[in-house]
Amino acid sequence: MQILKTVAEMKAACRAISRTEKKSGFVPTMGALHAGHISLVRTARQQCDVVAASIFVNPVQFAPNEDLAKYPRTLQEDCRMLEAEGVDLLFTPDAAEMYPTGASTVVNVAALSGRLDGASRPGHFQGVATVVAKLFHIVAPDKAYFGQKDAAQVAVLRQMVRDLDMDVALIVCPIVRETDGLALSSRNRYLGAAERQQALALQRSLQQVERLFAQGERSSKKLIAAAQQVFAAEPAARVDYITLVDWATLLQVEIAAPGHLFAVAAWIGATRLIDNVILSRPGFLASGGDEVKVVE
Ligand code: PAJ
Repeated sequence: MQILKTVAEMKAACRAISRTEKKSGFVPTMGALHAGHISLVRTARQQCDVVAASIFVNPVQFAPNEDLAKYPRTLQEDCRMLEAEGVDLLFTPDAAEMYPTGASTVVNVAALSGRLDGASRPGHFQGVATVVAKLFHIVAPDKAYFGQKDAAQVAVLRQMVRDLDMDVALIVCPIVRETDGLALSSRNRYLGAAERQQALALQRSLQQVERLFAQGERSSKKLIAAAQQVFAAEPAARVDYITLVDWATLLQVEIAAPGHLFAVAAWIGATRLIDNVILSRPGFLASGGDEVKVVE
């Protein structure tokens, strides 16, 4: 595995590959890697000739009051994991490399960026879209791999790729969970033992919603109320949002239908966790765009 720290080096390595006409896959991450990240790498490995990954804790997607400083950084272990998965190129720039003094262009996917996590974390999705646009320009991959775990992020990036005519297919991979159902997240490391148990409320609420939906409940109000009830039984968890939306627009829907995104965000102590379910169909092909596929 080649590790590249500068934009110029990474561009040169990626351009050398594209001249060979090999198909390239790209997995952007912020490191502190876990099995969720690795599932993206494995899918990329299966689908592409060459796999690139990046590890960059992107400062501009964190608000001043958020966890940028304490975000887990485990670079050595991350490199070991990526090397073991057969990653060819790893890009690990520092902040000054990605945002040199005077950098002033941002990518703002209007409207979408203010919904779901974008409503609770103003500026977050602008930071995500800006860094991912830069990474796409540097790496120029054929396919880029993202987790359904961050479903709103997928919606924002999908819109960005369309709007800016980017030549990359976004591949969305399923949420990887612990055996008890907790969605893997780099932020799970912040949880104490009691909080780790409380965090299961997210997944429990989604299971309850899925059960009701499978039984025929279609009222979004009732599904949301059922999820709220699960959280009511876990008072240590503070709900940020519980919502049912169209996955493409992130706008709320009244009547639930297959393919809609039921998403929750909650604070467990000082840690904000998110989780979601796409109603009814695993392996669902996201509505409104053939560039987004869910890999089973
Ligand atoms: P990060 O949180 O490191 O996540 C990198 C990728 O791993 C994202 O696409 C995310 O959805 C996916 N992922 C995380 N947990 C997962 C899980 N349990 N199952 C499946 N996939 C999972 O998301 C980011 O970084 C950043 O915003 C980034 C896109 C890199 C831009 O800075």
